[in-house]
Amino acid sequence: MHGDIAEVLFSAQDIHKRVQALGRQISNDLAGREAVVLALLKGSVLFFSDLVRSIDAPVKVDFAWASSYGSGTTSSGQIHLKVFPEGDLRGRTVVVVDDILDTGRTLDTVVRRIREEHGATDVRTCVLLDKQARRSVDIRADYTGFPVDDVFVVGYGLDYADRYRNLPYIGVLKPECYQS
Ligand code: PRP
Repeated sequence: MHGDIAEVLFSAQDIHKRVQALGRQISNDLAGREAVVLALLKGSVLFFSDLVRSIDAPVKVDFAWASSYGSGTTSSGQIHLKVFPEGDLRGRTVVVVDDILDTGRTLDTVVRRIREEHGATDVRTCVLLDKQARRSVDIRADYTGFPVDDVFVVGYGLDYADRYRNLPYIGVLKPECYQS
C-alpha cells in the first residue's frame, strides 16, 4: 500500500494540526449555536470523525451519500443523493463536510438540496482539500484544509477503486497504479 505512493503531500501530523485549526475556527463562528455536522460518504469519514472531535460546541451529526450518474467511465455531471439526512434540518445551521472539492458539482448539489428540500437556513461547507484547477461550478468552501494541485491523491478517506482510504496521510498515487 505505502509503496504505491509517489509522494506524501500531507503527513498525519500536518492533517492533525490543520483539522484542529479548522475545528477552532468553526467553533468560534458557531459561537455556541448548535449545528448539524453532515458528512458526505464515503470519502469524508476520517476527516469528519477528527473534525467533530475538534469542534468545541454542541453539534449533532448526520450523513448523506451522493453519487454521480453516468454511463461507462464518464460522469453525466448529475448528482444523485442516495442517502438523505435523517434528522430534521428545518431552520438549522448545517456544516456540510467533504474530503475534496473537485468540479464542485457534488457540494453544490448537496448544499442546494439541504436548503431547498430540507429547509436548513444556514448552510456552511468544510472541505479538507480544494482542487481549484478542476472546478466547473462556481462554489467556494467556507472552510478549507489545504489547496491541492490537480494530481491523483489518496489516503485519509480518499480512495482509488475504494482502496487506500485507510492511509493515515494523503499522498500522490503512482500513475502505474491506476493506468493499465
Ligand atoms: C468524491 C469526493 C467528493 C466528490 C468531489 O466522491 O468525496 O464527494 O467526489 O467531486 P466533485 O467536486 O467533482 O463533485 P466520490 O464520488 O468519489 O465518492 P466517495 O466519497 O465515496 O469516494
